[in-house]
Amino acid sequence: MSPAPTLRRLLQILTDGVDKIEAVYSDAGETFPALEASSLNTADPAEALRADPAVAAAILNIMAAAAQISATVCNPAVAALNASQAFHVSACLRVASELNVVELLRDAGPQGLHAAAIAAPSNADPALLARILRVLATHHVFLEVAPDVFANNRISSALDKGRTPAALFANRMERLDGNGVTALAEFFSDDVIKSAAHLADTLLDPRAGELPYNRAFGTEEPLYRALQRPEHAYRLKRFGLGMAGTTATEPPDTIFRGYDWGALAPGSVLVDVGGGLGHVALEVAQRHPALRVVVQDLEFQTEDAKKHWAVHFPEHVAAGMVEFQAHDFFDAQPVSNARVFFLRYIVHNWADEPLTKVLRNLRAAAQPSTELVVVEKILYVAAATSAGAEDAVPGAARPTAPAPLLPNWGVGKAELYYYDMAVHNMLGAGERTLGGFVDVLQRGGWKLARVHHCAGSQLSHLVAVPA
Ligand SMILES: C[S@@+](CC[C@H](N)C(=O)[O-])C[C@H]1O[C@@H](n2cnc3c(N)ncnc32)[C@H](O)[C@@H]1O
Repeated sequence: MSPAPTLRRLLQILTDGVDKIEAVYSDAGETFPALEASSLNTADPAEALRADPAVAAAILNIMAAAAQISATVCNPAVAALNASQAFHVSACLRVASELNVVELLRDAGPQGLHAAAIAAPSNADPALLARILRVLATHHVFLEVAPDVFANNRISSALDKGRTPAALFANRMERLDGNGVTALAEFFSDDVIKSAAHLADTLLDPRAGELPYNRAFGTEEPLYRALQRPEHAYRLKRFGLGMAGTTATEPPDTIFRGYDWGALAPGSVLVDVGGGLGHVALEVAQRHPALRVVVQDLEFQTEDAKKHWAVHFPEHVAAGMVEFQAHDFFDAQPVSNARVFFLRYIVHNWADEPLTKVLRNLRAAAQPSTELVVVEKILYVAAATSAGAEDAVPGAARPTAPAPLLPNWGVGKAELYYYDMAVHNMLGAGERTLGGFVDVLQRGGWKLARVHHCAGSQLSHLVAVPA
């Protein structure tokens, strides 16, 4: 096919997407939020409308088509070299976050602040900071409103830690408490970027059992064990908060867009296996308070989980409806009356062999009525395929992107492929296709019974029953 029709078809996808968004917003009497807005208000109905399934579908097409049309027209050498330098955006973002730039700019409002004033509280070099912020502004994170003068936009505001700059500079340990997205962004742009830099080296010069993370940090210890050391208390806390921040990229009620929690009988036991803070089971229990919850994680996480529940759902704690168990999921599962074993963002952290052990431990403790609810993103390949495994499991079939977009929506779903690399670099694991889930569940003694794709989200709920 000649390039001209492809460009036109990509343009048509963009036009159709914008038309759809305008129609939905017009019907609702709203205007699509401007990128230039100096703050992000997630409670604004115009923001909430982005999760409307028709709008979310149009956004996905637009993101994919915009990236593909740009890739099509760009000088290929420029595109390749830009890809090879994408790490600068990540490195600059961490600087902005560590220097609390978003919060300094929040106080300054739309007229912005000169780089000299932004740099002053941290004694950073103002000229260098201006260059760093310009890299970000060029990628639509911050606005450069006048030479060397920067202001927040909706994207930078998503990283607002919600405290005064003075409070943030005064207490490093608590600086990320107010925004899990920022905790996640700092984890990615610190621990993960350093590890990713060693990916090729560990492939070219493999050493048994060594991941990019191990080579980057000069340690043989796995990430989760290393984070338990007292000297890594800040990194551990940042990791836990970051995991809670993963919910922010999804519609706020994503956990209710799949598995039917309301169908569980009162008193049913929901075990959040490797639950971290237990923050998602908490959301479920807030809506369905007759459910009993057990939050399990390694001992070092359990204290943080207790604190989290004490703040966010003290009623359930006081009623004795939630229990916090220090439990290593490679050991025998202590709960034998679970209605649901819930695993969110656990499966993708483990390669098939160790994961099979985890699944077998859960299977050994399961009743015939126990369901395993796995919350993960299901990998699409970038090539067109026949549906295969997706046809065989109820609910699993998914649409693919309209041609000439990449069948997996390309950059529109970039986040999924970044996670795939992050879990490899840090943990030696990865995301799975549906066939990959079917196989590993089977090895662990479970049968994938059905799948719920959460509308407006990349997450799916995979429901398995004892095989
Ligand atoms: C990616 S986080 C997911 C946390 C939580 N499920 C969520 O959705 O936010 C993985 C969790 O697995 C826990 N974990 C790692 N190894 C574990 C083990 N051997 N036993 C129990 N939990 C473990 C970690 O401490 C961490 O809280």
